[in-house]
Amino acid sequence: MPVLTRPENMERITTPALAERFIAEQIDDIRAQVGDKKVLLALSGGVDSSVVAALLIKAIGRRLVCVHVNHGLLRKDEPEQVIRVFKDEMDANLIYVDAVDRFLDKLAGVSDPETKRKIIGGEFIEVFAEEARKLEGIEFLAQGTIWPDILESEHGIKAHHNAGGLPEDLKFELCEPVRILFKDEVRVVGKALGLPDNMVYRQPFPGPGLGVRCLGAITRDRLEAVRESDAILREEFDAAGLAGKVWQYFTIVPDFKSVGIKDGRRCDEWPVILRAVNTRDAMTATVENVPFDLLQRITDRITHEVRGVNRVLYDLTPKPTGTIEWE
Ligand code: XMP
Repeated sequence: MPVLTRPENMERITTPALAERFIAEQIDDIRAQVGDKKVLLALSGGVDSSVVAALLIKAIGRRLVCVHVNHGLLRKDEPEQVIRVFKDEMDANLIYVDAVDRFLDKLAGVSDPETKRKIIGGEFIEVFAEEARKLEGIEFLAQGTIWPDILESEHGIKAHHNAGGLPEDLKFELCEPVRILFKDEVRVVGKALGLPDNMVYRQPFPGPGLGVRCLGAITRDRLEAVRESDAILREEFDAAGLAGKVWQYFTIVPDFKSVGIKDGRRCDEWPVILRAVNTRDAMTATVENVPFDLLQRITDRITHEVRGVNRVLYDLTPKPTGTIEWE
């Protein structure tokens, strides 16, 4: 079994050389733990699961089975990138599950945020379990658990979101090769493993994804407005050099319309709300001072390129009194 606790005097992994050493050690540990058996991994495309996937592919190749569930609430181009990076470039044994209709049908008409979260989390486990049952000879479950997850669950701050959740008949031994790392170390290791920068330096993204940014009951057209406006915001922040600087930035589309004017005609359409915040630990947050001309440019692009949107607003509220997400 790999080391279960972070040694107190462990050197912080800050350089490619230290990352290479960690990778070599983990490959040995993974091989020792897993032997000639198969390992299953839910690969979301987030930093932690991507680094775990790349490590395991190096250690055991196609005996790692990755399952990528597209629940329809991912950002633009994310599922495609997972396939490109892992299946095409790393020759991963990757199962892609298109569960978009399944999730959106279950979520139809559900407006309460916590109920939405429960449906998304529950359905995810169900889809993943269904795929796991189709496979034979799996003995291990790999997870992107990191050190803060362990600390937070030990201190009762949050339930350890990775651990368990699978039904009783699916009991695997856990393989958690980045569990002693802090987030910044996971990124250094990911970089050394050759993962693309936009995967390694990805901003935090909530498990329920765009589902909590399409306020109230999710509809496909409004969800598309969230996805497209988010892509424009990311593109413009990238171009302006803000992408690596601002902690988290995204768009929200509420479930009401206001009157506007397009092509000389009255139009009742949704507003898009922009949010860009900085924080150390997400417990409090300040609002990024985005240059006004950039806000105007983003507004121009969103109102012209995103279907069904006639206004753009910037959220000036720090946390508290606002939270980072809107629901
Ligand atoms: P709030 O909105 O509470 O968010 O200020 C703090 C940080 O947590 C993220 N967040 C979530 N992450 N599942 C997650 O995995 C969730 O349900 C969830 N809700 C909020 C949020 O994006 C921010 O980084």
